[in-house]
Amino acid sequence: MKNKSLVSIEDYGKEGMLKILELADYFEKNPNQKILDGKVIASLFFEPSTRTRLSFESAINKLGGRIIGFSDANSSSVTKGESLKDTIITVSKYSDLIVMRHPLEGSAKFASEISDVPIINAGDGANQHPTQTLLDLYSIYKTQGTLENLNIFMVGDLKYGRTVHSLIMALSHFNPTFNFISHEKLKVPTEYKLYLDEQGIKYYEHSEFTDIISRADIIYITRVQIERFSDPLEYEKTKNIYVLKKEMLVGTKENLKILHPLPRVNEISEDVDDTKEAYYFTQALNGVYTRQAIIAATLGLV
Ligand code: CP
Repeated sequence: MKNKSLVSIEDYGKEGMLKILELADYFEKNPNQKILDGKVIASLFFEPSTRTRLSFESAINKLGGRIIGFSDANSSSVTKGESLKDTIITVSKYSDLIVMRHPLEGSAKFASEISDVPIINAGDGANQHPTQTLLDLYSIYKTQGTLENLNIFMVGDLKYGRTVHSLIMALSHFNPTFNFISHEKLKVPTEYKLYLDEQGIKYYEHSEFTDIISRADIIYITRVQIERFSDPLEYEKTKNIYVLKKEMLVGTKENLKILHPLPRVNEISEDVDDTKEAYYFTQALNGVYTRQAIIAATLGLV
């Protein structure tokens, strides 16, 4: 199964993404629509999750569907040596749609090629996290009133942060100016910079941002992805370099909003949480409406 799956944000294109945002707005205003009556959604999380898994479950419940699956692969027959291929083929016999998070880059694409039902990529290694991107776009649109011509600051782990990679690709449809702020070892991978070059999108790389923060419309900050490091010393060297504090928000733009895909480790000081710029917990809530929209669109129910 193939064409209905959401593996990469590029599967949707600009029109497809805008359609999801429109639908998310509809579900935010009309959350309890029992359009999944009789449908079974499988939720297969081979990696830990709080927001993605539970917001999908919340979305499915609000739509009246049933959920099967696991939140820990150790409770599945993977521990007995079963392959991803056999797991997906089997689960696709039991369900109408599979939501899958897996540590291997490319695993969602592989699953989409062998499954009888659509696959929604809930994060594949350091590669892509398209459903997060759609909720990020929805959050940006809701707070800015537009997706066009924004000055987007991305801060933190830009190398391993899959949410960053998907969001770069998605926003490139809307003529942003990117400012990438990271440690030398955690810069945006070359493939994404080449992509931006091809699209004619402006981007600038920095190691600091206190002197330029006043230009930002959106600050998208991420944790350093400890689970992707093969060398723990490299993680120690790169963590806790960027910590956004309340005092840094003096003199910033009136429309500035701070987004974070979460979980937070130390990147945002808790004194920021009560500021008008902090949007990350509402962003997590937007995940429910956006995932309702994605499920409904994938199953052709809207
Ligand atoms: N943003 C995100 O993917 O969070 P979880 O890892 O908690 O799902």
